[in-house]
Amino acid sequence: MEKRQELYAGKAKSVYTTDDPDLLVLQFRDDTSAFDGKKKEALARKGMVNNVFNAYIMERLQDAGIPTHFEKRLSDTESLVKKMAMIPVECVVRNIAAGGLVKRLGVEEGRELSPPTFELFLKNDEKGDPMINESLAETFGWATPAQLGRMKELTFKVNHLLKQLFAEGGLMLVDYKLEFGLFKGEVVLGDEFSPDGCRLWDAKTREKLDKDRFRQGLGGVIEAYEEVGRRIGVIFPS
Ligand code: C5P
Repeated sequence: MEKRQELYAGKAKSVYTTDDPDLLVLQFRDDTSAFDGKKKEALARKGMVNNVFNAYIMERLQDAGIPTHFEKRLSDTESLVKKMAMIPVECVVRNIAAGGLVKRLGVEEGRELSPPTFELFLKNDEKGDPMINESLAETFGWATPAQLGRMKELTFKVNHLLKQLFAEGGLMLVDYKLEFGLFKGEVVLGDEFSPDGCRLWDAKTREKLDKDRFRQGLGGVIEAYEEVGRRIGVIFPS
């Protein structure tokens, strides 16, 4: 497999074509952004940490029957993935109130959400990823009802698997965002799962061990990501 030209550079990852039309290389960079790109910084080792973390999670999900775009880790900062047609809809599940939900509804941070909530957002930086619903997604052709149904089913399956995995490491999976795409007509989990796209709290102290450390200027961002990884069995290259 040969890495070819850059296809797209996102806020934290770059995507490259390969000599295989069905495969892409994802390069995880140290760049970190929040608040729709208004806060930006390069955090040393973040590309490596998120790439290794994501590979571990994707393999666990794949083993449990979740279809993912992940093929294999190629290097410290690169992974090989299936080339998909991305569905421009972000799926968010919340087990505990935090972040956007607290802001929007004024509920208390840390409140347990039973049953967990499911929200859809349009992936659109210019519009600040507005909240949408199934009706809007269908009308505007972002996703069909069948695709949305499968996305919701897979997002909750991921919740079941990862809540358990993180709990074993003494961590609470507060919330997370997933993205999906279509590969040969099938809805497949794409993008990444790392502390950049979820909230993880220490189960005893409720210390934040995710990207909120960057958003809120708490420091120790990458140290927290590594701590989370180590607690669930990720082995980072030294
Ligand atoms: O900001 P909000 O509380 O709605 O985010 C919910 C979850 O989705 C958080 O874990 C956040 O990190 C993640 N998220 C993301 N990318 C976005 C929006 C939210 O990773 N564009």
